[in-house]
Amino acid sequence: MKYKTLNTESKMPLIGLGTWKSAPGEVYQAIRWALKLGYKHFDCAAAYGNQKEIGQAFHDAMKEDNLKREDIFVTSKLWNDSHKPEDVLPALNKTLNELGLEYLDLWLMHWPIAQKKGTGVPFSNEEMLSLTEVPLEATWQEMEKAYNQGLVKAIGTSNFGPKKLQLILDKGQVSPAVNQVECHPYLQQNELLDFCNKNMIALTAYSPLGSGDRASRLKHENEPKPLEDATINKIANRLNVSPAQVILAWQMQRGIIVIPKSVHEKRLQENLDSLNVTLDNEDMQEIAKLDKGYRFIDGNNFKYGEYTPENIFA
Ligand SMILES: NC(=O)c1ccc[n+]([C@@H]2O[C@H](COP(=O)([O-])OP(=O)(O)OC[C@H]3O[C@@H](n4cnc5c(N)ncnc54)[C@H](OP(=O)(O)O)[C@@H]3O)[C@@H](O)[C@H]2O)c1
Repeated sequence: MKYKTLNTESKMPLIGLGTWKSAPGEVYQAIRWALKLGYKHFDCAAAYGNQKEIGQAFHDAMKEDNLKREDIFVTSKLWNDSHKPEDVLPALNKTLNELGLEYLDLWLMHWPIAQKKGTGVPFSNEEMLSLTEVPLEATWQEMEKAYNQGLVKAIGTSNFGPKKLQLILDKGQVSPAVNQVECHPYLQQNELLDFCNKNMIALTAYSPLGSGDRASRLKHENEPKPLEDATINKIANRLNVSPAQVILAWQMQRGIIVIPKSVHEKRLQENLDSLNVTLDNEDMQEIAKLDKGYRFIDGNNFKYGEYTPENIFA
């Protein structure tokens, strides 16, 4: 395994397993396979609705395969409906219970968006809360309490742009250790990466392979497909590796953590093996040219009240 050292001094495995859309009924097996193959990092979230089953897989691997808690790095995320200060720590407790863990290695604020208690992905303005009413820094302050109590070893953000990260850096006591955002050859996030590097915030790339299994209502017509990209495939053929391996290796060579999702054993292995793929300068430069600022997760499903795709990601 290769690691990124966080600003907390702890080490985060450069590749982890994504679990969004991994259905109950398949995520258990995926986690057990992944652990056997050598994955040490798991990206979870309260909103994915599958943490109980993931927790069961950890529990069984600890019992049957001698897995130790300290051998794995587990991330989870605070959902938008629990941003009010009084809801933050109870939401963490629920996540810890579901996962059957005493602490998380990393806890992220899932979106810079506040919603009413009990709401999922919103369908109306009624479900939203204003950031004036529930400011991001007030939510962050509660996450800092969890960090200071040792319930989480690091705290961070997700879907934050430079402006919102700066707000947390200015108003918080603890700097975010990680910012998790969409990142792939068509959305390279160079400006944000520079900002994060300057401020000792590690960047994790979500949807690194283009998130092809999203529900059709979340998709655009004629989406570009990074795994079918001609440049990526040309490099993959030359190196005799897969397109997914080229994309994941490219990110890790830029110092970015990747969390590809799969529920298939062969792909879990393939993605993990990207740790052994090395791209040369020319490959890196060719992939750099593919950036077109394209978002698969475009923020449109949160477009209510004060929230617009432009200001969500700012
Ligand atoms: N913070 C956030 O707001 C946020 C948003 C989105 C995602 N995430 C996190 O990031 C993780 C990854 O993103 P994602 O799930 O959106 O998409 P992704 O990892 O880019 O793509 C997943 C899709 O790629 C397929 N796949 C996996 N490995 C492959 C390979 N080697 N070759 C070909 N196809 C392959 C998967 O299929 P199979 O499963 O059938 O193999 C699945 O259809 C999520 O699971 C979640 O943990 C976070």
